[in-house]
Amino acid sequence: MKALIVTAHPQPDSFTQALTERFIAGVVASGHEAEIADLYGEGFNPVVSVQEMNGWQNGLVSPEIRAEQERIRSCDGLVLSYPVWWSTPPAILTGWLQRVLTLGFAFQHEGSRTEGQLRMRAQMLVNVGSKQRQDVDLATLYIEPMLGVLRYCGMEILPTQANWGVYQKADRAALEAYIEQAFENGKRFFA
Ligand SMILES: Cc1cc2nc3c(=O)[nH]c(=O)nc-3n(C[C@H](O)[C@H](O)[C@H](O)COP(=O)(O)O)c2cc1C
Repeated sequence: MKALIVTAHPQPDSFTQALTERFIAGVVASGHEAEIADLYGEGFNPVVSVQEMNGWQNGLVSPEIRAEQERIRSCDGLVLSYPVWWSTPPAILTGWLQRVLTLGFAFQHEGSRTEGQLRMRAQMLVNVGSKQRQDVDLATLYIEPMLGVLRYCGMEILPTQANWGVYQKADRAALEAYIEQAFENGKRFFA
């Protein structure tokens, strides 16, 4: 089986990138394949155009978006790996979701119901600067909206690896433990 790992970080030496690579190593170690969609590296344009939006109801998508959809369709699982920026993923990733998960590809209207079309597993690797706190439910604020997108599209969602307290001067041992957890999650992804 094959996993598509979508990653959104501008710095190739970021913690996000290291975590992504270790997750991929885990997938490969378990005998499966992994393809990376490095949105910054590939120069993905996250801005929805007026022509594009006008085409959505008729199922019209550009060759660029068709290629993204085919890349998803050729895989059995989707992984999103990103940092939290002002409570949301980087704009390049939300733009990717907005442009790629179109009506007819990712979901379909069945009468008054909506039916997700992407019968694949999905997992998120999310890096957060804040430490988890008892007084504010940051997991609901930061992570649930993205899980809602994946659920809407019909995906089977595996537990999110949320890495709290990731910042430049964070404890090295804690960061290493997150990296090893990503390897283990990669190994288990298709189990
Ligand atoms: C523009 C920006 C906005 C951020 N907003 C938040 C935030 O809302 N909440 C939070 O906990 N951390 C926030 N952070 C911290 C990042 O989540 C954290 O530094 C990042 O996950 C570390 O991973 P990296 O080394 O791969 O960048 C922000 C960082 C940046 C650069």
